[in-house]
Amino acid sequence: MPIHGLPTTLLCLALWPLWSLLMPALCHPDHSPCRLTQKTALCSDSELSSVPEGLPDNIEDLHLNHNHIQTLQDDSLSRYISLRTLSCADNRLETVGSKLFHNSPHLESLNLAANKLHVGYQQTSLALLTLSRLRVLDLSENQLTDNMASVLLQNMTSLEYLNLSRNLLLRLDESSFGDLHQLRELDLQRNMLFEIDASFDHLHKLQRLNLAFNYLPCLVDFHMTQLVVLNASHNSIEWFIANQDRQEVFKLETLDLTDNNLLFFPFLPTHSRLRNLHLSQNRVSFYEHLADTAAYPNWTTSVQFYNLRGNMSNVTAKLWDESLHGDISSLDLLDLSGNQVGYFPQGFISKMPSLARLRMRTNCLEVLNLTLEKLPGLLYELDVSNNMLTELHADQSSLRKLGNLSYLNLSQNDLQSLPAQLFSSLTSISSVDISYNRVGICPLEEGGVGMGGGGGKQSACVVWRNITSLRHLHLSGCNLGRLPSSAFVGTPLTHLELSNNPELIIGTRSIVGLSRTLHHLGLGNTGTRDFNFSPFHHLRSLNISRNSLTQLPASLLHLELRLLDLRDNRLTTVPSAQANVLAPKLHTLFLNGNTFNCCQLDCGVSSECLAGSAGSQSGRPCGAVECRTTVA
Ligand SMILES: *[C@@H]1O[C@H](CO)[C@@H](O)[C@H](O)[C@H]1NC(C)=O
Ligand SMILES: *[C@@H]1O[C@H](CO)[C@@H](O)[C@H](O)[C@H]1NC(C)=O
Ligand SMILES: *[C@@H]1O[C@H](CO)[C@@H](O)[C@H](O)[C@H]1NC(C)=O
Ligand SMILES: *[C@@H]1O[C@H](CO)[C@@H](O)[C@H](O)[C@H]1NC(C)=O
Ligand SMILES: *[C@@H]1O[C@H](CO)[C@@H](O)[C@H](O)[C@H]1NC(C)=O
Ligand SMILES: *[C@@H]1O[C@H](CO)[C@@H](O)[C@H](O)[C@H]1NC(C)=O
Ligand SMILES: *[C@@H]1O[C@H](CO)[C@@H](O)[C@H](O)[C@H]1NC(C)=O
Ligand SMILES: *[C@@H]1O[C@H](CO)[C@@H](O)[C@H](O)[C@H]1NC(C)=O
Ligand SMILES: *[C@@H]1O[C@H](CO)[C@@H](O)[C@H](O)[C@H]1NC(C)=O
Ligand SMILES: *[C@@H]1O[C@H](CO)[C@@H](O)[C@H](O)[C@H]1NC(C)=O
Ligand SMILES: *[C@@H]1O[C@H](CO)[C@@H](O)[C@H](O)[C@H]1NC(C)=O
Repeated sequence: MPIHGLPTTLLCLALWPLWSLLMPALCHPDHSPCRLTQKTALCSDSELSSVPEGLPDNIEDLHLNHNHIQTLQDDSLSRYISLRTLSCADNRLETVGSKLFHNSPHLESLNLAANKLHVGYQQTSLALLTLSRLRVLDLSENQLTDNMASVLLQNMTSLEYLNLSRNLLLRLDESSFGDLHQLRELDLQRNMLFEIDASFDHLHKLQRLNLAFNYLPCLVDFHMTQLVVLNASHNSIEWFIANQDRQEVFKLETLDLTDNNLLFFPFLPTHSRLRNLHLSQNRVSFYEHLADTAAYPNWTTSVQFYNLRGNMSNVTAKLWDESLHGDISSLDLLDLSGNQVGYFPQGFISKMPSLARLRMRTNCLEVLNLTLEKLPGLLYELDVSNNMLTELHADQSSLRKLGNLSYLNLSQNDLQSLPAQLFSSLTSISSVDISYNRVGICPLEEGGVGMGGGGGKQSACVVWRNITSLRHLHLSGCNLGRLPSSAFVGTPLTHLELSNNPELIIGTRSIVGLSRTLHHLGLGNTGTRDFNFSPFHHLRSLNISRNSLTQLPASLLHLELRLLDLRDNRLTTVPSAQANVLAPKLHTLFLNGNTFNCCQLDCGVSSECLAGSAGSQSGRPCGAVECRTTVA
């Protein structure tokens, strides 16, 4: 640490203005641990073991977080009768005097998170009973069990927001929240819930429910029509089945089932306004091909669900019937990343006319026929990266309908050809990633203007010219050789990534058209040695790592670079003349993996070398030098 070794007086002088600004209260002679602003008393982080006395009687907000308070005695708030908010999170609170709130008729918000209320929950519950106006209650992180929670929440009829996250709840039933008729938001994340039985049925105003990070095995007979956000991510859910007999419109807008064990697309309500459906990190696949009962006569076609008390909740799902997906007509986002989808059932995509974001990263798609799938015109983002695509088909008219498509990620597939004019036909496309496929760049004469209109025709190269909307292009690991001249003419790229093409041959002429627009150029691991960077005045970020460079290209010095990655080259030094030119402009510089002689290394005046203890001996190469200049 740079602070070590500074003389103490100097340190104090340097910090004094800041210190006095942050801690004015401590410097006052009366030594109050609290800071007052209007009717708020901020007494957090003050090693208090009780509520401070002597605050103005009329305070409305009292903050006592991060202190050492173990009990709140009956009379400790009696002077502060205007109190609306009390926050006493992260103390050592075990119990609250049963008469604590006798003089707090206006209290609306109480935060007791991160304490030890499991110790004195019974007495605490008596205190809570007297809070007839409480709207917001945070009891998270208090080691509360199911029973303790239901004792604490008895008769809390005015509560609207309740946080019980990070407790020890195992199961919930109708008695758990029996009195909370006004509840709107309930946070139950990070408990150990494995069963929920009719516990929300009477919460008619509940709009937001968070069940994330529990152990729920399924959610069946879901019929909370009033709920707007349901977060059941990070459980062990194998089945999500809404009650599809309900004809009302469910208000559900966001359903998060990320990181569960779903094998089937969830069985959603028959009528809903669902906009955001998060299903990433499951095992979802489609099974339309199994619906053929002639081929599989003995397969079971439905499942029934029982709960743990043996009380059958007679929920039946017809397994291979894809019409049971429910209402997905309002979907804006469908995230199926990290599943096992090999194809879309017939007509599935066209059930989602409002879809703007379709995330299919890391699935098993082999073929994508955009003509067949009829992707909606509102589609903005399409991510099919890291699948097993060998074919992508599209005719000109289906591409033209994708007039809003702006982000397309096809990286990490097995594509060897694409419709040559694929991207020229997408009028709003602004970011494309086709890294790690084997698709080339068409030279002028091939697939260029001459061939116009051939959007559907497969070609081993893609045309990147005259795509006026395109800004970001990623072509890493595409096995590129010599770049054709004027490869990107008419395409105002700001960001071009060509890294990991070890055979790349790039002449200034092939990308000179970009000199007025290019901000970032990625040439890591491309065999680049003597490229002339001087025309690229707008370049701010350059990656020339892993190129066996023995010296810094002189043409760099005239650029206004902010980020420069020089890692894993063969630089032995950066001469101080060069360093002095670069250092004032650079914000970030990566140098490790070179064979520096550390004694000659000079990062420039305003920079800080994070070299650790390495390289203090002259001549010793230090591979791990990382040198970041700090903003002066
Ligand atoms: C809760 O309210 C009901 C009805 O107002 C009352 O009968 C009951 O005693 C109350 N429970 C507690 C623990 O105060
Ligand atoms: C509930 O409390 C937890 C932990 O204290 C916190 O992370 C979470 O944001 C809170 N929930 C809400 C809805 O404020
Ligand atoms: C669901 O809860 C998890 C955990 O708190 C959170 O990371 C995630 O963003 C939430 N999902 C949505 C859609 O808000
Ligand atoms: C279906 O089950 C019946 C009775 O168990 C059996 O005789 C028949 O061979 C099975 N059919 C197939 C295709 O497995
Ligand atoms: C199942 O539970 C419901 C209430 O949830 C109850 O009315 C019914 O009697 C129970 N049935 C059996 C067979 O236990
Ligand atoms: C479950 O549903 C089936 C078919 O709808 C019906 O025959 C059966 O009696 C039901 N079982 C119970 C326990 O309600
Ligand atoms: C793509 O789908 C369209 C429409 O169904 C069809 O006419 C065309 O033959 C398909 N293309 C391929 C290569 O399968
Ligand atoms: C693109 O989206 C806008 C609304 O955001 C819509 O009005 C327009 O019709 C869409 N374009 C196409 C080609 O569907
Ligand atoms: C495309 O997807 C890959 C793999 O999922 C990801 O690493 C990459 O960052 C994405 N590209 C862009 C431009 O977002
Ligand atoms: C780009 O478009 C311009 C006019 O829009 C045209 O003259 C030129 O030939 C096109 N160039 C290429 C390489 O397609
Ligand atoms: C530079 O490119 C290499 C790939 O050759 C990559 O591993 C590295 O992360 C890139 N550097 C930065 C700063 O993004």
